[in-house]
Amino acid sequence: MKAIAVRPGEPQSAHLRDIDAPRVDSIDQGRGVLVKVLKVGVDATDREINDALYGDAPPGDDYLVLGHECFGRVVEVGPSVRRVKPGDYVTATVRRPGGSIYDLIGTNDMTSEEVYYERGINLLHGFLTEYFVDDEEFIVRVPEQMKHLHVLMEPMSCAAKAVQQAYDAQQRMRVWRPQRAFVMGAGQIGLLTTLALKLRGLEVFTVARSEPPTLNAQIVAGLEAHYVSTRRTPMEQLVDDVGRADLIVDATGSSEIAFKSMEWLGHNGALVWTSITGGAEETTIRSDSVNLQWVLGNKLLLGSVNANRGHFESGIRDLALGEMMYPGVAEKILTNPVDGLENHAEMMRLLVEEKSALKVFVNVAEDD
Ligand code: BGC
Ligand code: ZN
Repeated sequence: MKAIAVRPGEPQSAHLRDIDAPRVDSIDQGRGVLVKVLKVGVDATDREINDALYGDAPPGDDYLVLGHECFGRVVEVGPSVRRVKPGDYVTATVRRPGGSIYDLIGTNDMTSEEVYYERGINLLHGFLTEYFVDDEEFIVRVPEQMKHLHVLMEPMSCAAKAVQQAYDAQQRMRVWRPQRAFVMGAGQIGLLTTLALKLRGLEVFTVARSEPPTLNAQIVAGLEAHYVSTRRTPMEQLVDDVGRADLIVDATGSSEIAFKSMEWLGHNGALVWTSITGGAEETTIRSDSVNLQWVLGNKLLLGSVNANRGHFESGIRDLALGEMMYPGVAEKILTNPVDGLENHAEMMRLLVEEKSALKVFVNVAEDD
């Protein structure tokens, strides 16, 4: 069967190749779920893997099948599978367990080991192929009524985790009732985080450079949040106008903004970093002032990566509630379809060149 793969270490090596079809009984104890892939989303991580900045092949292979944001339909299940059945729509988690205590309790996203295993990213083949098989532990059901949001499940799980982690960590405050959030960046993670925070009742300011009218500004407005263009309103101005934020989630992909965000957080607040920055940027920050403010304000910084099954499930609940509150808004993120695995060059071109693309995804197969 066909797959889109790269040769890790070799820049711009994305190519179509033929790989063996998976079998449901390749997973132990009858726990296998065989999934027909319908759609796969791609993001900056895939671009960086194709730039050879990131990602390794599985041991024994010299290629890595790409794709970590999947949506498909179950075709066959092993005899002990209970969670899903043939015909169900599903997505899959990305990270697989290593050996730390966190991996043993189903929180692979929190592994304490340096090496991590992620399908389509590091040491495990991904989903940009026709079929895949996995243990039912890693397969998450998607309600049929949400199939129009297909590849958003994985990015939503990362947004759900980032928000959940902030709330969990802020239990240090005993009482934490955040009112105002800044979401830095209006790409897919920024927009989905905006949704998650609106559903928790916060006033959300979603910050990006470009001036409206743009699609992301329209989506932010559709979520009843405030879109802030820093070309029109620099951050200092925003802070003067509305005050510092109780919660800031950075999803810009810019480490400079991740650090600068430290200046815009209020007392007792939390700043969450979610971007993977594979480059080598250096930046200057007002470290004395930030240091002073952070100590005097008991502020918290945390990094958040990946997501476990629980975050997929809560992300799916948020997307479902989002459809009730803000009907038709989330699907506007699904901007750039590419038809067929053969069109991998177009997929990569859109990822690299199409700055306005919020979500590039491949239509792998028809749903029948
Ligand atoms: C993925 C995460 C993953 C991270 C680091 C992101 O693009 O969505 O699931 O953990 O990259 O590899
Ligand atoms: Zn991703």
